[in-house]
Amino acid sequence: MTTSQDALKVQVHHSSDDRPPSPCGFVIFGAAGDLTHRKLLPALFDLFRAQRLPKNFFILGVSRDSWTDERFRKEAKASIKEFGNTAVSKDFLSRLYYRSSDGTTSGFKELAIALHALEKRHKTGGNVLFYLAVPPSAFGDIASQLHQQGLIYPAGHTEAWSRVVFEKPFGRDLESANALNAELHRFLREENIYRIDHYLGKETVQNILMFRFANTILEPLWNRNYIDHIQIMAYETLGVEHRAGYYEKAGALRDMFQNHMFQLLTLCAMEPPAHFTADQYLDEKAQVLLSLRPVAQNQLDNFVVRGQYAKGTIGRKKVPGYRQEPEVDRKSQTETFVAMKLFIDNWRWHGVPFYLRSGKRLISQGTEILVQFKQIPHSIFASFRHQQFASNILCFRIQPDEGISFRFEAKQPGPEINLASINFNFDYKTTFHTKLMGAYERLLLDCMHGDRTLFIREDIVDLSWKFITPILKHWEKSKRPVALYPAGSWGPKEAMALIHGDGRKWRSYVPNYNIPTDGYGKEL
Ligand code: BG6
Repeated sequence: MTTSQDALKVQVHHSSDDRPPSPCGFVIFGAAGDLTHRKLLPALFDLFRAQRLPKNFFILGVSRDSWTDERFRKEAKASIKEFGNTAVSKDFLSRLYYRSSDGTTSGFKELAIALHALEKRHKTGGNVLFYLAVPPSAFGDIASQLHQQGLIYPAGHTEAWSRVVFEKPFGRDLESANALNAELHRFLREENIYRIDHYLGKETVQNILMFRFANTILEPLWNRNYIDHIQIMAYETLGVEHRAGYYEKAGALRDMFQNHMFQLLTLCAMEPPAHFTADQYLDEKAQVLLSLRPVAQNQLDNFVVRGQYAKGTIGRKKVPGYRQEPEVDRKSQTETFVAMKLFIDNWRWHGVPFYLRSGKRLISQGTEILVQFKQIPHSIFASFRHQQFASNILCFRIQPDEGISFRFEAKQPGPEINLASINFNFDYKTTFHTKLMGAYERLLLDCMHGDRTLFIREDIVDLSWKFITPILKHWEKSKRPVALYPAGSWGPKEAMALIHGDGRKWRSYVPNYNIPTDGYGKEL
């Protein structure tokens, strides 16, 4: 069943800060790269079109390629058309500039001169946002050069602001993340560092917090007394695509868990802060990670399963296995799938398992969070119905078909006592009749406003690596090979055993959000 969306009166409460940010320049390092063209430029153009950017604004692209302004504008126009699917205005393109840089001090000197000229021309008053869409190995050098050129303003400099955004991956284990943070702090204060996790910019991810803490009825149930377990899942049908060079060294645990999956976990499990201010909110998220129960090294295989896709069929298309992809080692042990079971040792969650799974080349595409409530304690219908009732399930559909559904039991019409599982459904598209703001749009805007709430603070990076690093170390030493699964399946059978062993099942509302299946298409 779906509630009649027309009958739903949507009262929108606007937040107080809808103003465009102050004038600024936007400098992108890695301007010829994939991320810039797939995500950043289309997002900036959408913001421009929606008049959310300041009137005084320019974009300066920087990379090693010897492009001109014209070439950058031409490439940007093509990418915005391809990934934003829209006609690009001349006004926007005329604000795009390009400088090639070889990374040397003299290159950065020239860059600083070009930047200052643009600041004058566009009257941006020295406010500048640097976006580092480059490999992490370049983060330290760029930060140091920006500092040397006086482009990172010291504490107490109030005339203008400078901020630096860092793309993931932020380190590859605890040690390297610590070293990177220490290096960046030589040139930057924490409040100028914006570590981005694009999941936090998704409307549906932000809504987890709103839904939990702007409604009275959930909070009394949101704990070990009523919740049996929580499943957090991100499935992809895509394979490694053209990113094997990066992915071979990363793998699914670093690529999806240390950041996106753990961020979803903290939002589901955190306590309400007294106020929704960046630091109070981030403190509560950190508390969740601090409370993760460490798993003994010899127990890790019972809590974490890694898999890798073998050849198979997605839709009707035959696809190669990971090891057959270009640039992938034929004996690669890199995981493209991870499933894990976690416990949060605090008063609220003691004993409640959190099951997480994510992988590439799976049967469906989607991200969802399922909160499964406990069984009723006693059935008064036992003489009519011997089977157990289905448990209530609250499902956050992060993507696609963004929304929330709630499954409950109801009487089927007729003289007999028959019950059916019903789904109440809230759907963004039909309720709000508006296109959801893209994750990058939201986060870029927040950086310009100087709002760090949806970014990753240093201690949060540190705490998630603290949990992940022992698993990585264990796999490095482990003789147990990565478990293979056919492309187009739900992952390796070992991942099924992880949850079946506890008498539970993976469930999924993807692809049909009215019908939860057991992950193999069998209706539940
Ligand atoms: C990225 C990962 O951070 O997130 C990719 O590097 C992954 O491997 C992507 O495909 C998933 O993001 P989304 O928004 O498509 O769920």
